[in-house]
Amino acid sequence: NKNYENILTSRPEPGVALVTLNRPKALNALNTALFAELTEALRLIDADREIGAIVITGSEKAFAAGADIKEMKDKSFADVYQNRFLENWQEITTIRKPIIAAVSGFALGGGCELALMADILLAAPNAQFGQPEVKIGTITGGGGSQRLARAVGKSRAMELTLTGRMWGAREAAEWGMASRVVDEGVGVVVREAVALAGEIAGKSQIAVQAQKEAVNAAYEQSLSEGLKTERRLFHMTFATADQREGMAAFVEKRKPNFTSS
Ligand code: CAA
Repeated sequence: NKNYENILTSRPEPGVALVTLNRPKALNALNTALFAELTEALRLIDADREIGAIVITGSEKAFAAGADIKEMKDKSFADVYQNRFLENWQEITTIRKPIIAAVSGFALGGGCELALMADILLAAPNAQFGQPEVKIGTITGGGGSQRLARAVGKSRAMELTLTGRMWGAREAAEWGMASRVVDEGVGVVVREAVALAGEIAGKSQIAVQAQKEAVNAAYEQSLSEGLKTERRLFHMTFATADQREGMAAFVEKRKPNFTSS
């Protein structure tokens, strides 16, 4: 476990990596240093064969209150264009292992966009989502327009981004942006996300990663291309020991012992 300044990393249970955004004084505003640490940590976790699934969380008050406005405010067009500001955020979408966002409190602007980049989103009852960029004279820059529209539909995405109003956990779940609201206490969302990650980590890692790739194709490709991608990946699993083991275990009425090979 490396020492980072803006994030904490841990292994709350076997197979699970937990990454906690940790700039409490700035409500986890996503500055360049934090994002560099986050992407480095995720790359290292992705390469670690001991880990099968990843949870990203913030504090109870804030998952992340957006890109760091203090860092951004004096930048010029030339700065942001030539330095490809925020382009590196996409690296998160190249992580093969499933990422679960456990969202408590504010997930605003880039914080909401980070949550939308996750594969599964669990919301605590106090979660507050928003794309308030329009209120500070700019627009979504980390994928909000594209991922929010795909997650909640065009009309809602327009209303939410054009007004900048916040929406809660229940709405996020009703609209399909969050898979569910974890409805007990606020801290429970992290425990639930870790338990879910642990359940996923217990499966064949090759199957899990191929399944993630196949679902993501639904967001990147046409239906016919996506179906072809799925079928190729499905066929590919027949080259793995885990497919042989999984099907043999079913027939022999025993638990499978997956080796991720
Ligand atoms: N960037 C930098 N600092 C931030 C921040 C942000 N996005 N959000 C909060 N902070 C800082 C505040 O400046 C404050 O610092 P100081 O104590 O030094 O003044 C500290 O965090 C605590 O915040 P508040 O005092 O404002 O806390 P609050 O409880 O009164 O309000 C809030 C909470 C409603 C989330 C409010 O902080 C807020 O509106 N934050 C900004 C939200 C926002 O506009 N996000 C979008 C950013 S743009 C973007 O993300 C672009 C993109 O698409 C990538």
